[in-house]
Amino acid sequence: MSPAERVAGLGTTIFTEMSALALRTGAINLGQGFPDTDGPAAVVEAAVAALRSGENQYAPLPGVPALREAIFEHQRQWYGLEPDDVLITFGATEAIASALLGLCDPGDEVVVLEPYYDSYAACIAFAGAVRRPVTLRPPGFEVEADALKAAIGPRARLLLLNSPHNPTGRVLARDELEMVATACVEHDLVCVTDEVYEHLVYDGEHIPMATLPGMASRTLTISSVGKSFSFTGWKIGWCSGPGELVAATRMVKQYLTFAGGTPLQHAAAAALRLPSAEIAALADDLRTKRDQLCVGLEAAGLRPFVSAGTYFVNAEVGGDEVEFCATLPSRCGVVAIPTSVFYDDKDAARGLVRFAFCKRAEVIAEAARRLATLG
Ligand SMILES: Cc1ncc(COP(=O)(O)O)c(C=O)c1O
Repeated sequence: MSPAERVAGLGTTIFTEMSALALRTGAINLGQGFPDTDGPAAVVEAAVAALRSGENQYAPLPGVPALREAIFEHQRQWYGLEPDDVLITFGATEAIASALLGLCDPGDEVVVLEPYYDSYAACIAFAGAVRRPVTLRPPGFEVEADALKAAIGPRARLLLLNSPHNPTGRVLARDELEMVATACVEHDLVCVTDEVYEHLVYDGEHIPMATLPGMASRTLTISSVGKSFSFTGWKIGWCSGPGELVAATRMVKQYLTFAGGTPLQHAAAAALRLPSAEIAALADDLRTKRDQLCVGLEAAGLRPFVSAGTYFVNAEVGGDEVEFCATLPSRCGVVAIPTSVFYDDKDAARGLVRFAFCKRAEVIAEAARRLATLG
């Protein structure tokens, strides 16, 4: 089977389909996770300044020094981490792809929380590896010890983590992270951790996996400017961690895209250097929107599971989730995503629908008004 055939059946082309449907029908798109406003103006200005000052050629393969330094400093200041190396990528997505291709042999098993961000399954398949999901179930979506144990077989090579977690909006608690860390150490697994929502936490605290005992030396940490700073279209991401893990990722990235987005890399450095109060204000704004959407979902007779982070909230819709989402645009002019597309175990997500709240307050208000007409 070709790599394209291996990923053809994964089913998350639904994002493109649903976004196209929203555009065609004028429905409010609460499907795909992108904000409808720009991030901080100072960061946009930094991009303009970089464009105007001739920063328009290939960046060095590891990334522009200003951004690499900003990431080293960010990891140190926010988390006390001292990674050996940093690599800039085309969004977190390229870091994920390059890491999986660089670190897995065909037949290796990758332990991954499900539901999972759609590129995980595709990249595991491209690597010829096998995904072994650890199912998170509503209402709590916690990592369960038995499920974790059952997913780690003799061929397990890598554990792919994501917290704050898309699509559930969970922020993993310290005891869950400790359980995962212990399993990684016991089974000698590399941990690749996707922390793109690291600054979008509304309840609790983001704890980077690399800060847990024994984990810094086996963890590749991935993040990007897209989600936390509302620049999803820039696709400036990065990974940091032990020299050999970053080197393996860089080796693949070199031949996928080499290096790009030079002016935006400079702007991403400005984003990471924003005062922490400004970064916190971005999360405060999204917390308000989360609350606004949850109130609207409840008023519409749905049952939201309030998220602690990310752009998303899931709600129980009391019927078949695929049917619900397929008919929602014509019934009331709103687009949402059936959470089961992110699961291998579809039964774990029966009746669950994911809504994005990274939209202007008036857009959420209008979506809530439309949802309330469902009756
Ligand atoms: C968990 C997760 N990781 C990565 C990404 C993509 O990040 P980027 O746009 O930086 O490639 C997303 C986007 O939806 C995501 O939800």
